Amino acid sequence: MKQEILKITENVRIAENVYRMTLEGPELEEQKPGQFVNIRLEGQFLRRPISVHDSEPGRLVIIYKAVGKGTEQMSRMTAGETLDVLTGLGNGYDLSKAGDKPLLLGGGVGVPPLYLLARKLRAQGKDVTAVLGFNTKAEVFGEEDFKALGCAVTVTTADGSYGTRGFVTDALPEAYSTFYTCGPEPMLKAVYKKTKTSGQFSFEERMGCGFGACMGCSCKTITGYKRICREGPVLEKEEILWED
Ligand SMILES: Cc1cc2nc3c(=O)[nH]c(=O)nc-3n(C[C@H](O)[C@H](O)[C@H](O)COP(=O)(O)OP(=O)(O)OC[C@H]3O[C@@H](n4cnc5c(N)ncnc54)[C@H](O)[C@@H]3O)c2cc1C
Ligand code: FES
Repeated sequence: MKQEILKITENVRIAENVYRMTLEGPELEEQKPGQFVNIRLEGQFLRRPISVHDSEPGRLVIIYKAVGKGTEQMSRMTAGETLDVLTGLGNGYDLSKAGDKPLLLGGGVGVPPLYLLARKLRAQGKDVTAVLGFNTKAEVFGEEDFKALGCAVTVTTADGSYGTRGFVTDALPEAYSTFYTCGPEPMLKAVYKKTKTSGQFSFEERMGCGFGACMGCSCKTITGYKRICREGPVLEKEEILWED
């Protein structure tokens, strides 16, 4: 984990209430797919965790939805302003288990972390399929970005206003070697039930400190309690215990 002051170089709206922000800093290291950063915002007690969407040395891209005070504050920031960011948080996805034909399943703001994963898997020559789920057409983003990487892409909307009507689980391909997923909990539960292979789930739980100190994100797994911020946010399908 590293604390850095990063400069905003872009902050643009890309869908309804959804923004893409690019941050730069000379010391910024490349982040791993599935890792997250934790952002301090003026007047907010807790930092706000946001997944890494894309990353290279010196540059970090995040995509976030304005849902409350913190993220709305972020959406009003402009290029040239700076943010205090904890980087290098979380375990990230394990690419070594991808097999030849990995499937990526993202829902809403669970789509952003899958982009860097897709880019890395494509660089390894994998045949990547991405199914991106949203509520409605106005909320859709990312389709062209995944296509540009050479992924086979299906978009689903719950109301049928764009792409395939339904949820990501209504558009699962016949064959895939494993899957990687991130999205709201009801979607993750449906993915857990409907998929037939091993896979990795990223949980975007509410967090406190974000770096393992407060136990606020702890959840029960097959192998005992785990802190989502430290031993997660990515858990293997086989270790998940759903609590009602
Ligand atoms: C590891 C991790 C990665 C995340 N990645 C992303 C991302 O890439 N893009 C993105 O848009 N969001 C992401 N989130 C969720 C994001 O952290 C919250 O939306 C944000 O903290 C809300 O802050 P706020 O001050 O705007 O809202 P608040 O005022 O704190 O809350 C507003 C509303 O959002 C709900 N809310 C707050 N936090 C969460 C949460 N973690 N999950 C679901 N609902 C929440 C609250 O219950 C409330 O209804 C991630 C969360 C985690 C833990
Ligand atoms: S948020 Fe504090 S331990 Fe995970």
